Parts: sequence; C-alpha cells; structure tokens
Amino acid sequence: MLSVDEAITSRRSVRAYKPDPVPQETISHILEVASRAPSGTNMQPWHVHIFTGDALNSLTSSVLDAFWNEPEEHQSDRQHYLEKIRDPYLARRRKVGWDLYGILGIGKGEREKTREFHAQNYKFFGAPVGMIFTIDHDMGWMSWLDYGMFIQNICIAARGQGLHTCPQAAWASYHDVVEKHLGLPEIQLVHCGMSLGFEDTEAAVNTLETVREPVEEFVTFHTE
Ligand SMILES: Cc1cc2nc3c(=O)[nH]c(=O)nc-3n(C[C@H](O)[C@H](O)[C@H](O)COP(=O)(O)O)c2cc1C
Repeated sequence: MLSVDEAITSRRSVRAYKPDPVPQETISHILEVASRAPSGTNMQPWHVHIFTGDALNSLTSSVLDAFWNEPEEHQSDRQHYLEKIRDPYLARRRKVGWDLYGILGIGKGEREKTREFHAQNYKFFGAPVGMIFTIDHDMGWMSWLDYGMFIQNICIAARGQGLHTCPQAAWASYHDVVEKHLGLPEIQLVHCGMSLGFEDTEAAVNTLETVREPVEEFVTFHTE
C-alpha cells in the first residue's frame, strides 16, 4: 500500500499505456474515493463520462477527424492560461516542452511531428479508459477550483490501484465536437479529459521527469 506521500509523488503524466483493460469496479472505486474531494458548500460541480471499448474508439475517431480535417474551426471557449505568457511561466513551459520533445526526437519547427504527437491526446495516449469531465458553464471560479481538487484526487486514487493518468486540457479545444457526440444539455460544457490505465514502462515518452521549484521559491513563512 502506498503512503499518501508516495501516492502523490509517484503520480506523473503518463503518455503511453498498456492495452490491459481496467475493470469497471476499479474505475467506480477510484471515482467514489475521488468524490470525497472538498467543494465549496459541498456543491460537487463535477460530472464524468467514462469511455472504454467501442465507445472510446467512436469518440476518438470523431475528434481526430476534426483535428486532422478542420483544425481551424475548433478552439476552447475559455482562456486556458495567460493571454500573453510571461516568465517564470514561459520558462517552465518551455523546459517541459523541450524535455518532452527531446525524448520524442522532435526538433524545433518540426510541425508535422509535433502535430502527430499532439494527436495522441485524442487517442487518450492509447489508454484503455478515457474520461471526459463536464461542468455547468455558468459555474463560478471557485467551482472550477473544486473541480481541480476532484481531478487531482482521481490521479492519486488511481495510484492506489497501480494505475496512472494524464489530465488533458487538449480535449477543451474540441469541446464542441465532444459536446455534440455526447448530446450534452446546453447547460453543460466539456472542461477537460483524462487518460487512465497501466503505464507502458517500455515507452520512451514515459521517461520524462518534470521538475518543481524548491519550497523556498514559492512559500513565504510569516512568523511575526
Ligand atoms: C489541467 C491540466 C491540463 C493538462 N493538459 C495536458 C494535455 O492536454 N496534454 C498533455 O500531454 N499533458 C497535459 N497535462 C500534463 C502536464 O503537462 C503535466 O502535469 C506537467 O507537465 C507536469 O508533469 P507531471 O504531471 O508529469 O508531474 C495537463 C495537466 C493539467 C493539470
């Protein structure tokens, strides 16, 4: 059994999976545990769509069709990060990007290879389980914060079952395709997605090691 610290620190974004299926009871267990996440006034603003088997293939082929054939027509309807990226965020983003592309052998300006890799997002990186998270579009930012806690809980609870995950904002860019595919009611929108499965430990992409700033860099202790 992993300690809490081990469950948290052994979580990584895994981008290649074994084909081994994950039993539905395991998925339900992870989601039940994750739903213990706190939320402001216990509103629990989350809804999860789970895709496996043919349903997963059908979703991924709809989105990949849009990704390859009409990329200009789809975008997220929300600002994901900064309108204009600046340091220190830019430097951190660049580092993880170049580290990842270095492992994949993708050089600067190799747009086709970059797109090929980006497309893997829409196959849930080969994971046997894909999750799509939806939220009522008029929820305030505290509810989006609640949602993040829930999603992180899924990542950690998955570790408890020997599984790995990759949270994926990429799905928000094709939210319209996914919303249509799911027949979502008007009030709901696609927040993001997540891959879930057993790590392919042979895959080079999974050797990526990301770094974090030391505690002294992001903490201010106030003592008097
Ligand atoms: C909200 C969110 C969205 C993300 N979206 C993507 C994505 O679309 N595709 C992807 O490959 N990784 C995605 N990631 C993974 C991040 O790149 C990753 O968490 C970060 O580089 C740190 O690496 P680690 O998760 O392995 O510690 C996302 C992570 C979060 C929290």
